Amino acid sequence: MPPIISVSNLSKTYDGGHEALKDVSLDIERGEILALLGPNGAGKTTLISIICGIVSASGGNVTVDGHDIVSDYRHTRSLIGLVPQEITLEPFETVSNTVNFSRGLFGKPRNPVIVEKVLRALTLWDKKDQKIMALSGGMKRRVLIAKALAHEPRILFLDEPTAGVDVELRKEMWQLVDTLRDDGVTIILTTHYIEEAEAIANRVGVINDGKLLLIEDKDAMMRRMGQKQMQIRLQTATDKIPPQLTPYDLERSEDGLTLTYTYDTMAERTGITKLLTDLNAAGLVLRDVQTSQSSLEQIFVDLVKATP
Ligand SMILES: Nc1ncnc2c1ncn2[C@@H]1O[C@H](COP(=O)(O)OP(=O)(O)OP(=O)(O)O)[C@@H](O)[C@H]1O
Ligand SMILES: [Mg+2]
Repeated sequence: MPPIISVSNLSKTYDGGHEALKDVSLDIERGEILALLGPNGAGKTTLISIICGIVSASGGNVTVDGHDIVSDYRHTRSLIGLVPQEITLEPFETVSNTVNFSRGLFGKPRNPVIVEKVLRALTLWDKKDQKIMALSGGMKRRVLIAKALAHEPRILFLDEPTAGVDVELRKEMWQLVDTLRDDGVTIILTTHYIEEAEAIANRVGVINDGKLLLIEDKDAMMRRMGQKQMQIRLQTATDKIPPQLTPYDLERSEDGLTLTYTYDTMAERTGITKLLTDLNAAGLVLRDVQTSQSSLEQIFVDLVKATP
């Protein structure tokens, strides 16, 4: 099946000359959960806003369900639910009116059954007659999600859905995302919480300074996370790695006192025991051993730092 969203060579320069997106291309598959990670100002909201038709692109194009987002705007927009980063709600309106009204905006007939289902899924049913201004911040976030789901979209964008949300509500949102995915909804979320991407995404994309640095299957990324390094400090420096240790691909420090071994923690055998025996046999005497692990966070930080 063709991707549900296809972004080709997208660029955006805002009035004033800031280049917020630089030649971004990506395909989003039906039913996947894609997490977009990136520091403040990376271009995440800009990308989402273009796909949703709120901001116009300076170059490139986007299709949603095979339709161009500019020439077929009404169709593509009707497939999308957007939970914006900023809370934009009418303070004097009630919860249920807010959600009903949003459904109407997309030309969908009133449907109390759907609206009730959405409000219940977000534990807002008992708040349905309350005015927005009487709700807490977390509740308002829920209303934003309910509003985005009111017209039964096939794609849901969540722009930092859990910023400033307590742990419990965060977990609830993750559960909701799971349920929606089971219903076949494609979900794209932006987040600063790397553990959020770890918990719910199928794929992770990293954006920095308007460029998509990497987009990868989360499990593949987790395998990379599984890379651990062991620093072996020696009693006396060695000027080269003994030939019998070649298979371990060790890295020798400049002073010859430290050898670094990189291994996969998820592999059945890490090879550590054998390495230590072989080191001994090669006449190298250990002083101490230290291990460190590269986390997704580290991968992310390194990637972003390396961007020219
Ligand atoms: N309407 C606008 N006019 C001019 N510049 C803008 C506008 N909107 C965004 N920008 C700039 O474009 C860049 C990308 O902004 P964007 O909101 O897409 O980033 P973001 O990745 O969503 O960041 P955050 O994590 O802080 O939400 C920023 O430098 C921002 O200042
Ligand atoms: Mg943003």
